[in-house]
Amino acid sequence: MPKNNPYRPVETEVLDVITETPTIKTLKLKPKEEINFKTGQFIELTVPGVGEAPFTPSSRPAIKDMIEVTIMRVGKVTEKAHVLKKGDTVGLRGPFGNGYPLESFFGKEVLVVGGGCGFAPIRSLMYEFFEHSGDFKSLFFRGGCKTPNDFLYKEETVEWSKRDDINVVLTVDEGNVAWKGKVGLVTTILDDVKMEFKIGIAVVCGPPIMMKFATSKLLDMGFKTTNIYLSMEKNMSCGIGKCGHCRIGPYYVCKDGPVFQYEKIKNFHDIWE
Ligand SMILES: Cc1cc2nc3c(=O)[nH]c(=O)nc-3n(C[C@H](O)[C@H](O)[C@H](O)COP(=O)(O)OP(=O)(O)OC[C@H]3O[C@@H](n4cnc5c(N)ncnc54)[C@H](O)[C@@H]3O)c2cc1C
Ligand code: FES
Repeated sequence: MPKNNPYRPVETEVLDVITETPTIKTLKLKPKEEINFKTGQFIELTVPGVGEAPFTPSSRPAIKDMIEVTIMRVGKVTEKAHVLKKGDTVGLRGPFGNGYPLESFFGKEVLVVGGGCGFAPIRSLMYEFFEHSGDFKSLFFRGGCKTPNDFLYKEETVEWSKRDDINVVLTVDEGNVAWKGKVGLVTTILDDVKMEFKIGIAVVCGPPIMMKFATSKLLDMGFKTTNIYLSMEKNMSCGIGKCGHCRIGPYYVCKDGPVFQYEKIKNFHDIWE
């Protein structure tokens, strides 16, 4: 983060642009100053002439001189981010927020449930899991997307599924002739997870509606509200706990989150909006 002034973006070069799906691209970025993020934290990306928006890096936190963000095109800033090219300059502020309490997961069974663009922070988390693979009792990943064409990091997820330190199952809402995997919502592929739910950890990241139903299913399975970790997205402005845009009850998503134990936020009515 720039010294003294958290509002000043660091000048950053676009090294490469990868098209993941028709609406999602990954930018490989090289900031002029190191951005030292923890998995699950977010950065603010400034696209010159339009403004800035928060994104959770999808890259390996151990790499200090390059950062990747995976961006779904939904509006003003993300439209412009999608037309950026190699060699362009953007700005980066951050990292902000808390990130995943990785070390508190050590020694435990962990189930990660992801959907759509939620694969972005999950990829960064997976790099950490694989780096500390021996520190977990067991790892499960259950991921879902609308169609086979909507999967992010297709080659990487195939590699994950070949590893013997993680059990991976993917599903799509709607298959096609080439898809040989499961068809159905991500909640339908949680039943074969074999772990001690009462003491296991669940990490959920995806669109609000998916997080809502996944959380409900995890509670039915026996996970404790304190052991379900959700990555929350709210409209943000300052990113540093000053403007109040990102409130959930007494919490600021930018400062107290974006990662929350479900227990902390379960009683606030607007968490899935
Ligand atoms: C902590 C945090 C981390 C995030 N990480 C990522 C990430 O890694 N990758 C990523 O693609 N996005 C991420 N987002 C969401 C991203 O910040 C927004 O999509 C972005 O701010 C939209 O800006 P915009 O100017 O393009 O859209 P706006 O012009 O502000 O909005 C246009 C329209 O899109 C809708 N919209 C806004 N956000 C979303 C959304 N996420 N999904 C669907 N519709 C939306 C708005 O309601 C509005 O109707 C994150 C958000 C937060 C708070
Ligand atoms: S974005 Fe300003 S308080 Fe969170």
